[in-house]
Amino acid sequence: MAISREGCIRRAGGVLVAALALALAIAAAPARAAQDGPGLFQARCIACHGPEPACAKLGRLDRGGWDWTVNEMHRGGARLDVDEKRALVDWLAALAPGSPPVCPQPEAAPPVQARDGQTLVMTRCTGCHDTVRICRGLRARGKDAWDTTVTRMMLRGAQVDPQDKALIVDYLFTLPAGAKPVCP
Ligand code: HEC
Ligand code: HEC
Repeated sequence: MAISREGCIRRAGGVLVAALALALAIAAAPARAAQDGPGLFQARCIACHGPEPACAKLGRLDRGGWDWTVNEMHRGGARLDVDEKRALVDWLAALAPGSPPVCPQPEAAPPVQARDGQTLVMTRCTGCHDTVRICRGLRARGKDAWDTTVTRMMLRGAQVDPQDKALIVDYLFTLPAGAKPVCP
């Protein structure tokens, strides 16, 4: 660099101080980012009682009802200016019952995919031999025989949870001869 770092800072000094002052002023101002409904709700509505009371009212209060409720909360101590109140009321009044983030969402269901017989066979039974071997047995043996075979495979090292074993046995027992994807 042709200009030294110090020279640069000295000349830019005035600008820097002004910029710093502005930055400080912005930092000192209440967070305007919270102006949107979700941000306001998180910042102003859950400190005293969590989101549950509001969740219970979603879709059951009209705009007037929310206006009344939010005013009550404001009187009770919720920090809100006029603009924030309006933004919050508009947002709450438009939300459908059960909507996030006002209402907690149920945990994502565990993937059921991995627990059906076909997926189990195609993932747990293909590590040592291909499924042609399994295909040959389709319809040629009863349920007990499949149970015995799968037990033997588990003893040989097949990674099958005990509670998944019945899914595999039922799947193989009911699968018609020649059926894909077990048969090529
Ligand atoms: C300073 C504490 C406080 C804050 C902040 C607060 N609330 Fe409340 N809220 C209460 C109390 C206390 C009650 C129970 C008494 C009542 O129903 O008036 C309540 C009750 C409620 C109810 C149930 C009222 C009913 O009729 O069943 C709703 C809905 C609600 N609050 C929504 C909100 C919303 C939306 C906000 C954000 C604007 C908020 N609250 C912020 C204290 C607070
Ligand atoms: C850890 C390796 C391994 C895994 C995983 C495995 N197998 Fe096997 N499988 C073998 C071996 C070794 C043989 C040959 C010896 C035997 O039959 O016991 C075999 C043979 C077979 C046979 C032919 C023998 C017979 O009884 O008809 C079938 C059918 C079979 N396996 C089905 C399965 C099924 C269903 C699964 C998934 C639950 C599975 N295998 C997973 C190792 C494995």
